[in-house]
Amino acid sequence: MRSVTHPYIEQLLDFYVWAAPLYDASAGGAHDRAADRLAELAAVEPHEHALDAGCGTGLVTHRLGGSPAHGGYALGVDISDAMLHVARADRPAGSGAVFAPMDAHDLVLRDATFDVVTMGQLLPYLVSPDVALAEAGRVLRAGGRIAVSCQRRSLCTAAEARFFAILEEMGGGFRIPRLPDYHDHFGEPWALQALLEQAGFERVSTTQMVIGNHTPDAKAWVDLMMQAGPYPHALLSLLQPAGRARFEQRVAAAMEELGETAYTYHRAFTFAVARRP
Ligand SMILES: C[S@@+](CC[C@H](N)C(=O)[O-])C[C@H]1O[C@@H](n2cnc3c(N)ncnc32)[C@H](O)[C@@H]1O
Repeated sequence: MRSVTHPYIEQLLDFYVWAAPLYDASAGGAHDRAADRLAELAAVEPHEHALDAGCGTGLVTHRLGGSPAHGGYALGVDISDAMLHVARADRPAGSGAVFAPMDAHDLVLRDATFDVVTMGQLLPYLVSPDVALAEAGRVLRAGGRIAVSCQRRSLCTAAEARFFAILEEMGGGFRIPRLPDYHDHFGEPWALQALLEQAGFERVSTTQMVIGNHTPDAKAWVDLMMQAGPYPHALLSLLQPAGRARFEQRVAAAMEELGETAYTYHRAFTFAVARRP
């Protein structure tokens, strides 16, 4: 099923085996709210055919609303069986969405068969985002729409910046596969616009959403940050209980210096909608 190989992919799949049951409620339901907004921007008509690439637990797919009664449908594809399992099991009443294991870099789908493609928080996790965007363009009909969301990392809080700085210091000694740092910029509106234009899409428009919250203490903070992606999860999973306790003490000390903004986090999203010529 996977055409693109990279040591990072195995780590991503391990991460989602662990994170799949936690994903929908993570960070106070931030993914759920982002999915709501993305589906709203995709504005799928009941007769339209929609593809949700990197559908995860189906938060976006179930909301796309293509209706078989009107000739429409929504197909969600993902490389994580664990995420697809949740997507199929937690089906809201009225959702006609269908799901299949498939790599967004290599869609086993015919040319020009979809009216809409969505990619909710997928692009930074891809080894070759340009290849996946070309695939989205290929399966879209002329005039079809693409709607994407990405987290905007530059809007992280001081507490998140301190936490990730500690994590980077700790991670130096481990060989954990990672994607290039520039993937962290995909949520900047200018970067998302450039990615879509380079892939041949036009009439790109972007919009933002920022959700803020906090955790009560260092333990809850580290639990939450482990859910932030394959890298923090891989690194923190290496710690034995004593190491984890020392890490939490270090985080607590860093947070004390921040005063009121300790343990606050943002989930900031950029959304973009564009058309295939
Ligand atoms: C952050 S989750 C987003 C899930 C969902 N789209 C949402 O908006 O909530 C990223 C998803 O992308 C999937 N993914 C990563 N690489 C992929 C690839 N090459 N092809 C398909 N899915 C992929 C992961 O398995 C994961 O389910």
